[in-house]
Amino acid sequence: MQQFTSKMLALLAAAFSLVAAQSDCVYDVQSAPFHLRLTGDDARLNGTRLVSVHAGPPFRQLVSEAWLQDTYPGHNQSDISINFYYNTTSTNDPNSNCLPGKLHWAPEQSWPSVFGIVSSLASNVQPIEVSPMQGDGSGVQFDEEGKLFQRARSYSPVTQEEEGYNLNHYKWFICATVYGNYKYGDALTWVAGGEPDGKNCRAVDVTREWA
Ligand SMILES: *[C@@H]1O[C@H](CO)[C@@H](O)[C@H](O)[C@H]1NC(C)=O
Ligand SMILES: *[C@@H]1O[C@H](CO)[C@@H](O)[C@H](O)[C@H]1NC(C)=O
Ligand SMILES: *[C@@H]1O[C@H](CO)[C@@H](O)[C@H](O)[C@H]1NC(C)=O
Repeated sequence: MQQFTSKMLALLAAAFSLVAAQSDCVYDVQSAPFHLRLTGDDARLNGTRLVSVHAGPPFRQLVSEAWLQDTYPGHNQSDISINFYYNTTSTNDPNSNCLPGKLHWAPEQSWPSVFGIVSSLASNVQPIEVSPMQGDGSGVQFDEEGKLFQRARSYSPVTQEEEGYNLNHYKWFICATVYGNYKYGDALTWVAGGEPDGKNCRAVDVTREWA
């Protein structure tokens, strides 16, 4: 991916305000900051936090701090890179289709960067993108144990899940990703179905932990 020029950023900003203007949902109740902690069978990843890293402005990816510790030994993650927020809507309009909330990062910056999933025709491993282009985001929510899940907006068009019509999915994997010019060994991804066809993918849970 080429680097963005200020002209391109202005175009992005214009596109973003168009997206924002089309949404009737107002997610204006902001949570306290929290970290996103990984658990899973991979001992190197288990217990590590997700860190927001750049992937060509204004895009970010989320990587395990294990990768950063290996790449930059002794470097501590700044609060800004590990603090995430969840906004919910204060309106209770029964006619609205607003999802419960949107996950976002760095509200102190001029453009809110929202958590989304980038679909691909090439792989069932879908990178997470945190950017101003994500509008209302992908519809992630936290369950009663603080675990992050993705609420599907409709039933699968092609299969019925064995457990029935379950719209809640926890298909988080840490995989090696290539995103534009950026290669990250341990980045958070979503696997759309079946076994991940990406490199070095390890299943994880992602849990909210108040900062
Ligand atoms: C979250 O809510 C705060 C407080 O209302 C608001 O300033 C901010 O723009 C919201 N962020 C997002 C990403 O919607
Ligand atoms: C992951 O870490 C937790 C907390 O330290 C521990 O209880 C659990 O056994 C670990 N899981 C694995 C598979 O190592
Ligand atoms: C990182 O944080 C730990 C614990 O707070 C501290 O002991 C250490 O000196 C810090 N390292 C750097 C490079 O700031």
